Formats: sequence, structure tokens, C-alpha cells
Amino acid sequence: MRRRLALLAVATASLVLIAFLVPLAVLVRTLAAERATAAATTWAQSVATTAALGDPDTLDAAVRQAAGSSGLPITVFLPGNAFLGAPAPRGPGVELAARGRSITVETPAGREILVAVQGGTRGTMVVRAFVGTERLRQGVGWAWLVLGVIGLVLLAVGIVVADRLARSLIRPVGQVAEVSRRLARGDLDARVEPGGPAEIREVGTALNQLAARIRDLLAREREAVADLSHRLRTPVTVLRLEVDTMRDKGEAARVGQAVDSVERMVDQVIREARRFDRDRAAGCDAARVVGDRVAFWSALAEDQDRPLRLGLADGPITVGVSAPELAACVDLLLENVFAHTPDGTPFAVELAARPGGGARLVISDEGPGFAHPAPVDRGASGGSSTGLGLDIARRTAEDSGGRLLAGPSPSGGAEVVLELGPGPA
Ligand SMILES: Nc1ncnc2c1ncn2[C@@H]1O[C@H](COP(=O)(O)OP(=O)(O)OP(=O)(O)O)[C@@H](O)[C@H]1O
Ligand SMILES: [Mg+2]
Repeated sequence: MRRRLALLAVATASLVLIAFLVPLAVLVRTLAAERATAAATTWAQSVATTAALGDPDTLDAAVRQAAGSSGLPITVFLPGNAFLGAPAPRGPGVELAARGRSITVETPAGREILVAVQGGTRGTMVVRAFVGTERLRQGVGWAWLVLGVIGLVLLAVGIVVADRLARSLIRPVGQVAEVSRRLARGDLDARVEPGGPAEIREVGTALNQLAARIRDLLAREREAVADLSHRLRTPVTVLRLEVDTMRDKGEAARVGQAVDSVERMVDQVIREARRFDRDRAAGCDAARVVGDRVAFWSALAEDQDRPLRLGLADGPITVGVSAPELAACVDLLLENVFAHTPDGTPFAVELAARPGGGARLVISDEGPGFAHPAPVDRGASGGSSTGLGLDIARRTAEDSGGRLLAGPSPSGGAEVVLELGPGPA
């Protein structure tokens, strides 16, 4: 935009300058020629006045004096072939003037001013003053140079003004673009400080309104999710009441603990849903979180005779995901192993630091493998479940700057690789 406005300024200024400077340059040249011609005519006429008096000596002195003062070659053609002053060819112009008509003749070398002097006893004389081309253009070169410099200065001023104007337009447009990018990255607090021309200010204001509206809609959406999650409390409460009526106290305590953890989870979901700005920047130690979750699931694995191969690198391995989010991710991947493979299926959990920062978590099993061609697609479920688990894990990985890969494990079962981006520096 900046370059285009500068080009526009150059084009416009050039046209205006050409429209003014070219006629001005021609005028300067014409005026210089007219001025030189007028001076030569005055000198020729003064000599002609003396010639009319008829005294040859006075005329000779007048010719010398005029030639000396004017710096012009002045000649007086006398009747016959005689002449006084500077030698000059007796051309057709002189012959014409000798018939009594004063004229000005253009020649390749300059301009001849020919003044006819009649009334002498010896016939018509012709006074010739010659103005050379150089004299006709005296001062023109300098004037043209001055005009050219003025033109260039005006052109430069035009470019500078256009550049300033462009910058005053580009700055607010750039700010609008930057705020749009920040909004796209999820920074919903980004706002434009409206500036620049009215139209761009309007765009900035509209973008601010859009950002506020998006924030508002998201907040409402989160509240709706929290409300929906809150509905889970009722069946959990019913479950707790059922536990209280159980006769076997040992069994009741065990189920009661499970109900407690479900209740805690529901509370956490409600809190998470309501929290607008998830604190992703905080990050967490993946080694600790994965270790905790594997410890939780290994009890169930033992119950179901599932051999677990564990390969957890020593921590801390900082990743750009909050601890609750990572825990939920590990849970839903391990839950898949338990839900989609038969009891007794061996599985493995491996965690390693990635060379560029972040972590690589691999959960694989020796079960039947993925039946669905695209199991990560949201809503794709081989069973009768919601089909959200792998998609949630994928988004968590991608939000941290990593990715999720799902495919066959070396034994032909399922393998999910969760690559997590590095945490804050
Ligand atoms: N370890 C696994 N072995 C075999 N198939 C699996 C395994 N993990 C996932 N799948 C297949 O991938 C599908 C998608 O998994 P995902 O976790 O996204 O959804 P889901 O488990 O069906 O439902 P949700 O997790 O929402 O309760 C599953 O339905 C299942 O068919
Ligand atoms: Mg699942």
C-alpha cells in the first residue's frame, strides 16, 4: 500500500509538473530570444538613425561604437557592394531590405535584424545586426536547470507527503490485522484502539464488538456446559443413597469411595467449564501426572489380569498442558484400552521427553486394534459410546503445540501417540 501510494504520488506529481514545466520552459526560451532580438533591434535602429544623416565618418564611428557596446556584429550595407562594420554576406534578406522594408530573418546560425534606411542621396542602406543562436538562448539553460530542480523538489515533497499519508493509514490497518490474528489465536481480550481515518476506525470498532460478542457467546456456552454437567449430580446423589442402604459395610465403603471420586470429578468438570481462561500457560510435569494416573488404573488392570509394561522417563518433563487436562487425557486413553480390548489384554504406557521440548506419551495394547478407519474423528465410535475421547486428546495435544497419532501397535493392537508441546519457558 505504501509503495502504491508513493507511485500514485509520483504519477500525479509528474503529470502536473509536466503540464506546467514544459510550457514554462518554452516560454522562457521564447522570452530570452525576444529580449535579445529587441536589444539588437534597438542598436540597429540607433545606427540607422545616424545613417539617415548621411555623414560617412559619423556613421563609421556609430557602427563601431554600437558593435563595441552591444557585442553584436553590426554591418551597414551601403548602396552598391560597399559596407561598413563587420563583414557579412549580402544575402536575400539584405536584398529585400534594400528595397525599403525592415525585416527579421531567421538563419541556421541565428537571427538577422535588417533595418532599411531610405532617403539618403546614394540610395537605400541596410543596417544588419546579427544575434547568434548562443545569444538568443542566453540564460535559458540556467533557467531550465532551476525549473528542473524545482520540479524534482516538488516531486520529492509529493512522495514524502504520500508516504506519511500511507503510514498513517497502514498503522491502524496493521493494528486491526494484528488484533484479528490474536483473536484467531484465542486471545479474546485483544482489542483495537480505533485510530486513523473514519472508515478504518469503524472497522476497528466493529472488530472490538465482534470480539466482545465472541467472548459473550463462549461464556454462555461454558455456563450451559456447566449447567448440563450439574445434572449429573442427581444420579450421583441417588447412587450415594443406594450405597448407604447396602448391607455389606466393606463393599459399601469401597463403592462409596468410587462415588466420592465421581462426585469430585463432576465438581471439577463444572469448575473447568465455568473457568473462562484455562491456564494453559501454567503447564505441568507430565512424568508426575502420567505416573499418578497409571497408578490409579493399574489397580483395575490387576483386577482384570492385564499385564502392564511401564516405561516412564524420570521427571520433571514440563509440557504446555495443565495438570487436570493432561490427567483427563491419560484417563480417556487408558479407558479406551479397558473399554475396547478384552480382559487380560497386555498394554504398555511409555513416556519420554521430546528432543525439542515437551513429551511423547505412547499407549499401546495387544488387543484387536482400531476397527474404525478414522477413530480420531469426533463422534466416530466403534462401540455405542460418544466417540469424543480421542478427539478431546487430539485437541489437547494440538493446543499445546503437539499432535495425536492413532494407528496399529507392533503387535497388531491399537497404539496412540500423544505428542505434547513444551511448557512455558
Ligand atoms: N485401544 C483400542 N483398541 C481398539 N479400538 C479402540 C481403542 N481405542 C479406541 N478405539 C476405537 O476408536 C473409537 C474412538 O475412540 P474414542 O475414545 O474417540 O471414542 P469412544 O471410546 O467410542 O467414546 P468415548 O471415549 O467418547 O466414550 C472407539 O469407539 C473404538 O472403536
Ligand atoms: Mg473412548
